[in-house]
Amino acid sequence: MSSRLASAILLAVCVAQAIVSATVDPDQADPTHHLSERWYHDENHSVHTLFRRGGNDGIIYSPIGSPDWAQGFPADPALMQNMPQAWLDALHAAIAAGKIPDIPVTTMGGPSPTYPDGYDPMSPNVCSSSYQCRIPGDIWDGPPGTLSLSFDDGPLPPSPTLYRFLKEKQQHATHFFIGSNILQYHDYFQTVWLDNQDDIAVHTWTHPYMTTKTNEEVLAELGWTMQLIHNSTGGRVPKYWRPPYGDSDTRVRAIAQEVFGLTTVVWNQDTNDWSLSDPVPLTSLDQIASQMHTWLTGPKTPGLIILEHELSDQSVQAFMSAWDLMVSNGWKIASVAQMGDVNAYQNAWNATSPVAPARIGEISIHPPPASPTPSLSHDSSSTHVAQSTGKPSPPHTNQKNSATDRSAASTMLTWLAIFVATITVCILS
Ligand SMILES: *[C@@H]1O[C@H](CO)[C@@H](O)[C@H](O)[C@H]1NC(C)=O
Ligand SMILES: *[C@@H]1O[C@H](CO)[C@@H](O)[C@H](O)[C@H]1NC(C)=O
Ligand SMILES: *[C@@H]1O[C@H](CO)[C@@H](O)[C@H](O)[C@H]1NC(C)=O
Ligand SMILES: [Zn+2]
Repeated sequence: MSSRLASAILLAVCVAQAIVSATVDPDQADPTHHLSERWYHDENHSVHTLFRRGGNDGIIYSPIGSPDWAQGFPADPALMQNMPQAWLDALHAAIAAGKIPDIPVTTMGGPSPTYPDGYDPMSPNVCSSSYQCRIPGDIWDGPPGTLSLSFDDGPLPPSPTLYRFLKEKQQHATHFFIGSNILQYHDYFQTVWLDNQDDIAVHTWTHPYMTTKTNEEVLAELGWTMQLIHNSTGGRVPKYWRPPYGDSDTRVRAIAQEVFGLTTVVWNQDTNDWSLSDPVPLTSLDQIASQMHTWLTGPKTPGLIILEHELSDQSVQAFMSAWDLMVSNGWKIASVAQMGDVNAYQNAWNATSPVAPARIGEISIHPPPASPTPSLSHDSSSTHVAQSTGKPSPPHTNQKNSATDRSAASTMLTWLAIFVATITVCILS
């Protein structure tokens, strides 16, 4: 009788547990807790193998601004040299799998990139964002009532004023950074990362019209910028990128998405604030204030994504002058990730949450040294884990693993025995 009760309780607990684990999405349930152990998308995406030295892997990243930190990143002309072979392999695998549309690069004859005859920029197979064609899945609009703050082209000398202002308002933003600017203005990077704890995103290494670039050049522009952000944020892998001049198409976007897991973010309002410091500006602070007034007091659907820059003192001023109006009109002001209530990095929720370690079993960026020593471990997954920390695999790793396997197996056998006993008692009583 009591054993029947015990079985019933056991069964109830099992069923309850199954229901709970089937219905709770850890992303929704607890953004800070479970996610230290996982990435935020398809476990088989190639990005897992490319930025594999994620946090908690025992990797010590060099301090921002130190010679070791800057070491190995390209000067502009060398962008294509020393690109990790793994990036190229991932690109070529994506091309072979038919994931990268085969459309030609553009040329810059006039104000907009031009495609050869036969390639309509508004057709679905080209869909150029320079021509306002929107590829589904790219971000142009915010959710109703939200104003997502993003700033392009930094870090630069005008940036600290912006960062102080944001900090004072306890406001986070997304910064679409230029890789070579991070190298040069690392002090400002350090401020926005450590002090503001803002979201860092990709704006390429040299700020080109991306549709004018070959597949390999697109790869280098994105990859190096991601690598530098990765190395400077404790192993975070950026999630968002914004094409310079808003210039992308199905090909460029597919490389960003399929090779690097990046989501493309454009905008739905443009102040032309980038031209304020030009000899002949396209706009003025007054003109921007009036545009801002129209947008901020206008309809709340779709949510606003205003293109703004930390490029000049004037462009920073244009934003700060509009701040009170943003607040008084009741917009929910947030970074791009916060506005969607999603993760800011591919392997971390935000600047302060834990970072998922590199995936177990992945391949090394750097080919293993061709040493004549026989393989230290016959178990492929432990070999790869050891490589991911950059340390040689200790010879006892294998024994330890099989010992762990054995103890797991015996635990399982014990439970099986208990289960069979319970059923038996149940039937007999
Ligand atoms: C990842 O790949 C493995 C092995 O090919 C497969 O079993 C698994 O279902 C894949 N996962 C996803 C999310 O596609
Ligand atoms: C990035 O950080 C990793 C881990 O410390 C290091 O191996 C690598 O050399 C750094 N720089 C580049 C360019 O990858
Ligand atoms: C990161 O996200 C957590 C969980 O939502 C939140 O408590 C924390 O304040 C966030 N940190 C930053 C810097 O936004
Ligand atoms: Zn830009």
